[in-house]
Amino acid sequence: MKVATRLIAGLLVGAALTVAASVNSFAGDKQITLGFSQVGAESAWRTANTVSVKTSAKDAGINLKFSDAQQKQENQIKAIRSFIAQKVDVIAFSPVVESGWEPVLTEAKNAKIPVILTDRSIDVKDTSLYVTMIGSDFLEEGRRAGRWLEERYKNEAGPINIAELQGTVGSAPANDRHAGLMEVIKNDPKFKIIASQSGDFTLAGGKQVMEAFAKTYGKQINVVYAHNDDMALGAIQAMEEAGIKPGKDVSVVSFDATKGGFEAMIAGKINVDVECSPLLGPQLMTAVKDVVAGKQLPKRIVTNETVFPMSVAAQILPQRKY
Ligand code: AHR
Repeated sequence: MKVATRLIAGLLVGAALTVAASVNSFAGDKQITLGFSQVGAESAWRTANTVSVKTSAKDAGINLKFSDAQQKQENQIKAIRSFIAQKVDVIAFSPVVESGWEPVLTEAKNAKIPVILTDRSIDVKDTSLYVTMIGSDFLEEGRRAGRWLEERYKNEAGPINIAELQGTVGSAPANDRHAGLMEVIKNDPKFKIIASQSGDFTLAGGKQVMEAFAKTYGKQINVVYAHNDDMALGAIQAMEEAGIKPGKDVSVVSFDATKGGFEAMIAGKINVDVECSPLLGPQLMTAVKDVVAGKQLPKRIVTNETVFPMSVAAQILPQRKY
């Protein structure tokens, strides 16, 4: 009886090990190792993105070496150098800022380690320094917000004064969300950006900058253009403390469309939220496996996204995943 029990237990363990091994992804005869350098933990978006990357790596059987850069480029450069030293199979990262990547990416190229960009793009002359870029079109997001503003104020003479809460200085989403808006409003002189400052994509940063804007411009502000939900939520707190009604006295335009953003729309405090999906993990893991298998990847993989006005928020919120 004891022998039979042990035999069955042994068979079960063996079967479990076989299943575990069969879901792993391989580079030659060893499991694929991916080094991933994350921006930080500055926003709800980022937290959801980290969960997506970690969960998808596990599901794909990829050995993930995860490093948090705490919003500092020098930390990302260190992490990438350490991945190179560890001879990982693939490096992926979400760059804090757009510029300054040539030296470290040349080191990765010389070490023959493919690099995948995810979420944020970089500004390099030699695009062979990375294989592909997976993520949102931030410029189009900015245009979408601009078009919403044009429609909202089409019957008003203006001036329509915009206070802009920028994301991290030099980052792709901050650069492009600003540029996309400008592209749409530049020919309409009634729109004026009267103040623009970085809140670094954080709630505390958004609140602090908005407190200063409210003191200087008060009721002159018609629109708060926040580059993400966290800063919009911080700005809402600051406006309320200053006796301004967000969503009513001031139109609040935001990005990401997180659950927090939806709740603020339902409360009537954010007027429109331009979607930016953090759920990039599954696409990233597919790309990692394809690169290791020697497949050719498109240089740009764009995420499918939309725009949510506050009128649809209550209906959509139950389906939101982040
Ligand atoms: O790069 C994506 C941006 O970074 C998101 O809009 C923001 O919330 C995050 O921190």
